[in-house]
Amino acid sequence: MNIAVIGTGYVGLVTGLCLAQVGHYVTCIDIDTNKIDQLQKGHSPIYEEGLDKLLRENRQQKRIEFTTDYDMGLADKQMILLAVGTPQKNDGSADLGALFSACRAIAEHLSTDVIVVTKSTVPIGTNERIQDYIKQHAVNNNAVSVVSVPEFLRQGSAVQDTFHGDRIVIGGENTEAVETVAEVYQPFNIPIIKTDLRSAEMIKYASNAFLAAKISFINEVANLCERAGANIDDVSRGVGMDKRIGNHFLKAGTGYGGSCFPKDLSAIIAYGRKVEQPLSILECVQRVNEKQMDILAGKVSKRFRGLKGITIAVLGLSFKPNTDDMRNAPSIPLIQKLIENGANINAFDPAATETAKTLLSDKVFYYETIDGALKGADCSIIITDWKEIIDYPIKLFKKHLARPIIFDGRNCFSLKIMKENGMEYYSIGRPAIF
Ligand code: UGA
Repeated sequence: MNIAVIGTGYVGLVTGLCLAQVGHYVTCIDIDTNKIDQLQKGHSPIYEEGLDKLLRENRQQKRIEFTTDYDMGLADKQMILLAVGTPQKNDGSADLGALFSACRAIAEHLSTDVIVVTKSTVPIGTNERIQDYIKQHAVNNNAVSVVSVPEFLRQGSAVQDTFHGDRIVIGGENTEAVETVAEVYQPFNIPIIKTDLRSAEMIKYASNAFLAAKISFINEVANLCERAGANIDDVSRGVGMDKRIGNHFLKAGTGYGGSCFPKDLSAIIAYGRKVEQPLSILECVQRVNEKQMDILAGKVSKRFRGLKGITIAVLGLSFKPNTDDMRNAPSIPLIQKLIENGANINAFDPAATETAKTLLSDKVFYYETIDGALKGADCSIIITDWKEIIDYPIKLFKKHLARPIIFDGRNCFSLKIMKENGMEYYSIGRPAIF
């Protein structure tokens, strides 16, 4: 099938390349000329494992092309995927500006009957608005059917998630359009759930909200474990072995971040308020997450009886490993709090330093190595569980730090090893070693 994808961010680019890989002809459209220039030269503007290979192969096979020109990009397409960003507005609701500009472009450039597939995460009811909007602004009399196919891929494993997802949700009011989209996705060999537009939109929000709830839940249990003298690693394992609960997303830490969970939680909570059905569980999930980001700062402050003049080596800045994404990263409020209370910060991250410089206080010192960040610091705080940090030898922590003290927000090390190496070690939901 001939398919256009509007938006070449994580979702659009990965989806476009994966659809090309299973045999479709795909044109990716973006208004960002820099991105399109890079892609036309065969360079991906984002890093995702396996993406460069997909780009190389599908360019060679002439199954993928990139353009900023809607006329050329939308010509003769049977299906158009909408994969533009829906960032959070100040009031917590989703900003649909980019989405409706893309719809306007579709309406103005359409010359054949088409199925519009929404991949972007959109508030309940938006797909119906898209359908009406395109119809209202269409310059020709072509038939347009809107279908919702929400995205469940994770940054860092986006290609793998697209080929090996747990399900593909296809929501729409036009049965023929839903069946056509199902055929397009057939080669992925993933179970397909067909439903209506609103249920598809809700499945996306409910999935992210449930995963976020699992994280806040386990973080609260971890905080309780600290008081009770229990060990959250064992508790998570024991709880997660119950198949009804499942062992994923039960890793306690400094809270969830990124471009999806915080934004989607705020959007669904805002929707709940709007329709007078407040989501009290999710409001708590959000509050617990915000509090969790403060926990490490509190532990350091307690240990040093205040933070004034203390130098802290912060290891890991991105919201999770294997990405340079700093959006809603727990490192941002944590570092801000440490600095406000008079601490000096040495920071290290394998990928996110350049982005961090634009977001964090200019008082932060950045280092290219863990050694450099640790040298002479009074303690270290681990915020992101990068492999480089997990594999860093404990004896080097001891050698470089002025005092052998680690506050570990991701439970990277075993208590036994810390004890054997004579470290003072505070983690999440596990007994302190001192
Ligand atoms: C998330 C969902 O996992 C995807 O299914 C969804 O498609 C995506 O949002 C989206 O809506 O686009 P992502 O934000 O890339 O994907 O990252 P995750 O791997 O889910 O991690 C989110 C946050 O939760 C991270 O900050 C991570 O450190 C934290 N987390 C995750 C925990 O603290 N504990 C866990 O056990 C798991």
